[in-house]
Amino acid sequence: MSAELSPIDKAKFVAAKRAVDYVEDGMRVGLGTGSTAAWMVRCLGELVREEGMKITGVATSSRTAELARQVGVPVSTLDDVKWLDLTIDGADEYDSRLNLIKGGGGALLMEKIVATASDQMIVIADPTKQVETLGAFPLPVEVIPFGWQTSKALIEEMLGNFDVLGRTTSLRLANDQPFRTDEGNFILDLHLRKIGNPQQLSLALNQIPGVVENGLFLDICDIIVIGNGDGSVEVRDINNGTVEHEQIDIIDTDNLFVDIAD
Ligand code: A5P
Repeated sequence: MSAELSPIDKAKFVAAKRAVDYVEDGMRVGLGTGSTAAWMVRCLGELVREEGMKITGVATSSRTAELARQVGVPVSTLDDVKWLDLTIDGADEYDSRLNLIKGGGGALLMEKIVATASDQMIVIADPTKQVETLGAFPLPVEVIPFGWQTSKALIEEMLGNFDVLGRTTSLRLANDQPFRTDEGNFILDLHLRKIGNPQQLSLALNQIPGVVENGLFLDICDIIVIGNGDGSVEVRDINNGTVEHEQIDIIDTDNLFVDIAD
């Protein structure tokens, strides 16, 4: 396969490549889900195969687990590992405080459990995902199938009390059927356009009985690596308050290509 990447894949790849610099021998690493995280898993696979790095991965979805095994990253369960040194994952939206919307790929529940069980969360993204106020990306909310229409109605009613611009919700579909998460749940996408108070909204959503979890990741992300199509990256560390710019060498990506759906 050609090593020529499109600008968007290059942006994802350099963000992933820079992020795996944080992974050290012996670490327990949370493996995110999505097309950007897939690059990170491939980069980790290369470190394992070619440099003999010893890591234990905990995947945030069945498809990430499958990719990790394909590229040689050992995969364990969170129950076996219990706590992680680091999680690296993508995001659908991020703001200047590194609050996130996640779940575009439907893996928000495992992603949030894994990120929360980590000493550090690093997000890899491209600049198109930065927003001033969260909410342009529809907020995914995982609900159990039982009584989902009642849960949907309760969410819509509750949104009336919140500082949001839109209040419509939709059941996520796949091939004309309700999309099912790895846990067998449904996803409701909330088209809010702007979320004035994400903390309050997150708490209120999770109080509705049929809601399992929502895609707001607040005060969880520590570092974001933003990749660009020209191979440059920006690394923002919210705890240290630092912002660094670097150029990443893309010498040969051939051995990173492994067939995956993302
Ligand atoms: C998966 O459920 C999501 O949270 C992804 O991390 C998010 O959608 C980003 O995916 P991409 O890297 O494919 O944009």
